Amino acid sequence: MTEKPKDWVFTDPRLKELKQDYAAYTEEDFKVWRILFERQMPNLPKAASQTYLEGVEKVRFTADRIANFEELNEILETQTGWKVQVVPGLIDDDLFFGLLHNKRFPSSTWLRKMEQLDYLEEPDMFHDAFAHMPLLVNQHYVDFLENLSGIALKHIQNPWAIQLLSRIYWFTIEFGLIREHGELKVYGAGILSSAGETKFSLSEEPKHFPYNVRQIMNTEYWKDHFQDKYWVIDSYEQLFESLPEIEEVLEEMLANKTQDARQ
Ligand SMILES: [Fe+2]
Repeated sequence: MTEKPKDWVFTDPRLKELKQDYAAYTEEDFKVWRILFERQMPNLPKAASQTYLEGVEKVRFTADRIANFEELNEILETQTGWKVQVVPGLIDDDLFFGLLHNKRFPSSTWLRKMEQLDYLEEPDMFHDAFAHMPLLVNQHYVDFLENLSGIALKHIQNPWAIQLLSRIYWFTIEFGLIREHGELKVYGAGILSSAGETKFSLSEEPKHFPYNVRQIMNTEYWKDHFQDKYWVIDSYEQLFESLPEIEEVLEEMLANKTQDARQ
């Protein structure tokens, strides 16, 4: 089997030509963005990773303006060469990793309604933009994302492999913590877009472990309530440098699974 060209994703029929229709945002949308922004932002100087906070300034997010992807793309492109790709919502794994592998961060453009401020079935653009995009200005972070997705694409036909790699994605990109100047800080987007989990994740209640690929790949995660375990990195470089180990542990776990099946 010949390998697909890296950019196959752009000609995939499932990837529609979607754009953010900024003029279509309603007064309620602006209000929702403002409420969520003003509720979470004051917590972040103490709670969030310095890299995230610097990122918020670089991408120029403010309370009174919903993130504008056109402007954002110009900024991201000059910083790390990344762009935002509008997607209709949750997308298939191969499309998801295919976009990330091509330096495109998939994002929705819709905002939750006033009555959904605290709970959402699937991520809206407040999560996708506010929580994820400021970190896309960090080179180690995006290099990690791009290459982790490359590993996922190699194993895209194997649901068990994708599950193991999703655990890495989950406990880093979505629910990761970092130690900066001796203090625990948040960089995971799933935490950053939740005022409740920001407080909880940094408290004494959950367990905190040093970043450990093997441990993470052996841990299931929850989608419907706070995690009870968080892994703490020392730097974004550490994520990037763990890629060979991720591949190694993955191969090992896949081989063990095949052995189990034969026994
Ligand atoms: Fe996310």
